Amino acid sequence: MPHETRIALVTGANKGIGLEIARQLAQAGVHVILGARDGDRAKAAVADLAAQGLTVQSVSIDLTDDASIAAAAETIRSEHGRLDILVNNAGIVDPQDGPPSTGAPEAARRIMDTNFVGTLAVTQAMLPLLRRAPKGRIVNLSSALGSLAVMGDPSSPYHSARLIGYNASKAAVNMLTVQLAQELRDTGIVINSVAPGYVKTDLTGHTGFMTAEEGARLPVQYALSGDETGRFVEPAGDTPW
Ligand SMILES: NC(=O)c1ccc[n+]([C@@H]2O[C@H](COP(=O)([O-])OP(=O)(O)OC[C@H]3O[C@@H](n4cnc5c(N)ncnc54)[C@H](OP(=O)(O)O)[C@@H]3O)[C@@H](O)[C@H]2O)c1
Repeated sequence: MPHETRIALVTGANKGIGLEIARQLAQAGVHVILGARDGDRAKAAVADLAAQGLTVQSVSIDLTDDASIAAAAETIRSEHGRLDILVNNAGIVDPQDGPPSTGAPEAARRIMDTNFVGTLAVTQAMLPLLRRAPKGRIVNLSSALGSLAVMGDPSSPYHSARLIGYNASKAAVNMLTVQLAQELRDTGIVINSVAPGYVKTDLTGHTGFMTAEEGARLPVQYALSGDETGRFVEPAGDTPW
């Protein structure tokens, strides 16, 4: 592989938007490392992309398992020495989540543990590798449901989507974006929150207006180019925090 080939890690890349992000990055000439917590699902995703002539590799990574995160970082360090692009895509919803008056606190704890704490842990583990890249890029998969401004606006179509655990987890991811962008301002590493839109995947029970391929486009755009940092964007443009 030529030294200038960019190296990307996409978490939760075995299906849904993550798999499509991996596909589109590979099609753009990036060497993609598919992060997946399940070996068989990883193999199936690698085979899916290989069938299209795309050469990718996979790495085992579970956002709730610090040892697996550390091992994934070590694998990338030993095989590539750096990481150019980190797409923090893995995320969950939970059937016990719900409105703040009734949503199960245990569900909120599980969601926060994966979507926020896991994303934070992966980001910190990969940061030394991103610092070794000429222009490190981090894309955090967020959601309009994580916007305090959108959820507080009674005229918003999302206003009644009351999932306290999930929405709070994406608001927390947005805080990571804002604060890490400030912290990394002089390093050249950029970090942005990207809301993909309402996408038909397992996470939404295949409701939604967009295919996973369409939902991957904006995250891929931010993974590949642009100097903006600390932004929160959705397909229609900037999203208010
Ligand atoms: N779909 C939408 O409309 C929408 C809208 C806004 C934001 N998003 C965000 O986009 C991202 C992708 O969602 P999606 O719709 O593509 O969902 P999805 O089809 O359910 O895929 C989620 C991915 O995350 C992985 N994952 C879950 N928990 C994990 C863990 N602990 N460690 C590692 N991987 C884990 C899953 O792996 P397994 O197969 O092993 O479960 C799967 O690969 C999420 O962050 C989601 O919040 C989605």
